[in-house]
Amino acid sequence: MESFEYTAHHPRVVFGAGTLSRLPAEIARAGGSRPLLLSRRGPVAGVDAVFDGVAMHTPVEVTERALEVVRERGADCLVALGGGSSTGLGKALVARTGLPLIAVPTTYAGSEMTPILGETDGGVKTTRRDPALLPATVIYDVELTRTLPAGLSVTSGLNAMAHAVEALYSPQANPAIDSFALDAIGRLARALPRIADRPDDLDARADALTGAWLAGICLGTVGMGLHHKLCHVLGGSFGLPHSETHAVVLPHVMAYNAPTAMARIAAALGVSDAPAGVFDLAARLGAPTSLAELGLPETALRTAAVAATETPYPNPRAVTADGVERLLSDAWHGHRPATAAGDLSRLTAQVVASFAGAPDQRLAALLGDLVTRLHGFVADNDLTEAEWTAAIGFLTETGQLCSPTRQEFVLLSDTLGISSAVDLLSNSRSPDTTPSAVLGPFYVEGPPVKEHGADLAEGLPGTPLRADVRVTDVDGRPVAGATVDVWQSNQDGYYDVQLPDLEGPVLRARLRTDGDGRLWFRSILPSEYPIPDDGPVGRMLRATGRHPYRAPHLHFMISAPGHRRLVTQLFVAGGPYLDSDAVFGVKDDLIIDFPSDEDGTRRVAFTFRLGPDSAGD
Ligand code: BEZ
Ligand code: FE
Repeated sequence: MESFEYTAHHPRVVFGAGTLSRLPAEIARAGGSRPLLLSRRGPVAGVDAVFDGVAMHTPVEVTERALEVVRERGADCLVALGGGSSTGLGKALVARTGLPLIAVPTTYAGSEMTPILGETDGGVKTTRRDPALLPATVIYDVELTRTLPAGLSVTSGLNAMAHAVEALYSPQANPAIDSFALDAIGRLARALPRIADRPDDLDARADALTGAWLAGICLGTVGMGLHHKLCHVLGGSFGLPHSETHAVVLPHVMAYNAPTAMARIAAALGVSDAPAGVFDLAARLGAPTSLAELGLPETALRTAAVAATETPYPNPRAVTADGVERLLSDAWHGHRPATAAGDLSRLTAQVVASFAGAPDQRLAALLGDLVTRLHGFVADNDLTEAEWTAAIGFLTETGQLCSPTRQEFVLLSDTLGISSAVDLLSNSRSPDTTPSAVLGPFYVEGPPVKEHGADLAEGLPGTPLRADVRVTDVDGRPVAGATVDVWQSNQDGYYDVQLPDLEGPVLRARLRTDGDGRLWFRSILPSEYPIPDDGPVGRMLRATGRHPYRAPHLHFMISAPGHRRLVTQLFVAGGPYLDSDAVFGVKDDLIIDFPSDEDGTRRVAFTFRLGPDSAGD
């Protein structure tokens, strides 16, 4: 069970195309009448006072100059329009004045959603976190992002994706943030290629900006891991550009932290291997893929790795200087990240391709799908060698127990519900016919032929039973001369083949329908019984806390020329185990009343409807 603490401090959001026009109303809503715009762009409608000295990394001297302008102008509200630097200055001024801030982000960095302020003073960076720093309103105007150059859109979008990725394995992760993160990853992955293709595609821009907002919430709400730490070091100590560094480093940190969260990320990205998927996306969209390209000297890798591992912080995989140096070396060279998941998908593809030359295409398709699912099973469950060896041992034993009178593999298929699954799908193709049910292991070819009215129990003890059977086609027309094989357990729940001391076949017979499609016989009421549980299947049942019992039933196998053979069972209504049959063989339409006569004889009357014989059956 998951446990978490979650406090939501998400600013009010106004999202849409052309929403900058709502700025005056939002300023008034925040109680402002003399706003100051913090932006490298010119003034905007409704705000004439502008401070345009915005700089990267929020230097304190810039903040102090801006503070003077705030005082000179008597500003009572701040409007930060631009990328992370404008938002950063806005928050730095909020920290000093307590004025309300309206953020209008034009990139996907997401800092408008975080209560974090990072400032630099004489080259030293300090950060603080305070919900009071959050903007009063964030206006997302999709129109403003239309002119963000394609290259910057891609790297800024990958920066946003990094917030969402790290949120998924954060110690503070919770279901709300997880769904924001996965939604953000999916939207960004779908939107960025469309933006790279057509930067003014408004729908793609809206998707990317929504993704950036959600990723910003992730960044502002839960702690980040190795990726953010590394990018901080590379930006702060080596002067690498912010969003490009995120774009290069992200796939390598993902590979380092794999497999944690990677299956969910891969699903959101629509790829089989998440780290390689992000690398391929970045490369395809023309983003930088190596730290060398960004100008980092190779000699800096060790220093950066040591700096990134000096103070401990939460990350799904232990952060060691050697491990991070290898990661950085891969990122420096621009290698496509290799993960077990990536190698596995190549292996799976190879095995599937190996069947391509099979003359029987159905065989190739079935084997290909089986292998794909089994490989997925191995990966999704992190199957250990010991577990696989145990599974092989189990299957070997199952095979070794098979003989002409004991079919342990059929029993395995039955108890795993596979026989019933195959039966269910075959049966669903002919809804007008009587439902079929599993054959089971106790049918014996060529049962003794009996006349109508014969007693199948031949004097064995039990509650007397009279069965009246009719066989028709799907239109209710009688099927004369149909061969009806019947077999059942005795009062103690055994079939004759399980009792070596018993003389000859008993409780089994072959009868034929008359001209009206009818037959009748006598017998005893079948009992519930355990399936053979002295082998590996029995062990599996015990290991999983399952009982081995079948609900009481009569077996029928009915064949007639021109009709589809029907193998089925009739279950005694009110009998035990109808809800928990060990082989999942019970179907509602096959649960039948066996009412009692005055003399205690139970009666069952049933009409079996056979489907037409069609090719392929
Ligand atoms: C039976 O009904 O005879 C049966 C079916 C499946 C497994 C074992 C027994
Ligand atoms: Fe049975």
